[in-house]
Amino acid sequence: MVPSRPQQFVAVLDFGAQYGQLIARRVRDLHVYSEIVPCDIPADELASMGPAAIILSGGPASVYADDAPDMDAAVFELGVPVLGFCYGQQIMAAKLGGLVGHTDKGEYGPAQLGRAGRSRLLEGTPAVQTVWMSHRDAVKVVPEGFSIIASTDVCPVAAMECAERNLYATQFHPEVRHTANGTTMLENFLFEICGLQRTWTMEGVIEEKVGEIRAQVGDARVILGLSGGVDSSVVAALVHRAIGDQLTCVFVNHGMLRKGEPELVEQVFRDQFDVPLVHVHTEERYARLLAGVTDPEEKRRRIGTEFWKVFFEEAQRLDGVRFMAQGTIYPDIIESGARKTGGKASTIKSHHNLIPFPEGVHFDLIEPLDHFFKDEVRALGLALGLPEAMVYRQPFPGPGLAIRIIGEVTPEKLGILKEADAIVREELDDYNQRLFEETGERNSEHSCWQYFAVLPDIRSVGVMGDERTYRRPVIVRAVESSDAMTADWAKLPYEVLGRISGRIVSEVEGVNRVVYDVTPKPPATIEWE
Ligand code: XMP
Repeated sequence: MVPSRPQQFVAVLDFGAQYGQLIARRVRDLHVYSEIVPCDIPADELASMGPAAIILSGGPASVYADDAPDMDAAVFELGVPVLGFCYGQQIMAAKLGGLVGHTDKGEYGPAQLGRAGRSRLLEGTPAVQTVWMSHRDAVKVVPEGFSIIASTDVCPVAAMECAERNLYATQFHPEVRHTANGTTMLENFLFEICGLQRTWTMEGVIEEKVGEIRAQVGDARVILGLSGGVDSSVVAALVHRAIGDQLTCVFVNHGMLRKGEPELVEQVFRDQFDVPLVHVHTEERYARLLAGVTDPEEKRRRIGTEFWKVFFEEAQRLDGVRFMAQGTIYPDIIESGARKTGGKASTIKSHHNLIPFPEGVHFDLIEPLDHFFKDEVRALGLALGLPEAMVYRQPFPGPGLAIRIIGEVTPEKLGILKEADAIVREELDDYNQRLFEETGERNSEHSCWQYFAVLPDIRSVGVMGDERTYRRPVIVRAVESSDAMTADWAKLPYEVLGRISGRIVSEVEGVNRVVYDVTPKPPATIEWE
């Protein structure tokens, strides 16, 4: 189902995927709903979506390149205010009769911007200020009716406007934090120039989504697979808010979750929310399935296939289920399309065919989070009353601890890893909490983004008391990252590492050594398998 858009909606025309995402997020941070649309959307199609404002993103191409991302010039005739950044400024100039060319030298990083005259876009910002530049091409001649509102030494047209037509553009990037007054500029555009209101709040969103889900579901029943992860938990809480007992959650417990997680799922959904919850204990079934398997990809394959088998077995036991709710989020949707189109998020493809419905089984999907970014999903979860431990859960692979046990998964190894991992998490949760209290940021520069224990398939010699031991080492992995694409090993204070090591060898039976993984990604990956 296409979500109904809130009345006030900002369309971000995306000329290069990563740029559009960041702008959409900044706009939503200001409590205005925004959505990314392909840059070459026809103007009449865009008009039918009813945007109150349009933002043209940056992009890596040159406007005159053969395969440069293009846009319909009629977008400028819609009477809707437009703001362009970087490539967005250049394409605005090129489409409206201005001239874009190479500058003598590119401009990358911080630059000093000087304002020229008055402009509603730059209102309330200093005469000279730091902005973030990243370009080689630049506007040489502004289109007729436009005036230059700011310059840098290198870039004479650092910002331009045609106030009568409500067209504005900057060569710099107001959406990045390094542009000191970027937020003020965005606020000026959204609230002063376009007259929007800050209506995109979590309470408003919940009310709207609840209405949509009720309308879609009627009195049918809905099933949802809980994994213990953030997205499925938030969908469960949201759908339950909308339709109460018409929702049944199925929690497939494969035994490879971390210590305390199955209990948390039970406690939150059964005890706190009172959701009809089927807890399927498949620990033994999975233990048999994984016996003797050492290849990581084979582990992944078996675990994934079995999950759906169990889930659909349970689903078929329930009567009258027409819908299946899923925790698909906006980046899943954007990425499944954008990667394939070289940056332009134009052919956003559904990934629904990935669900292996068995012969003769089909459910209609409900994906109420499919236009939410991860941090919005978390905010929604908190607003719905989910505990912080669930909402701020660190990323955890679907195959769970099975891919953190090198070699065969056995009950003994699983037991050791769960205990050691619980200690790593406890200590680093504390460490992160201290950083959060100091900096006010959840993912501050030095906080750990993902942290866990790994159990290698070897033993090492040690000495405890008077006795020689021959036991297992445990590897501690802790990384700083923002998106898992790249990561660096966390520079943890020695006393934190020392405490983790001391606790693991004294509290976990069978372990006599602890080592710390000091490899970034690349060349390593975050996980060991
Ligand atoms: P790597 O190890 O490739 O991991 O650096 C990047 C991120 O993806 C997670 N990961 C997985 N998630 N199924 C998942 O759902 C998997 O098979 C899987 N393998 C890795 C990993 O935890 C990290 O956040």
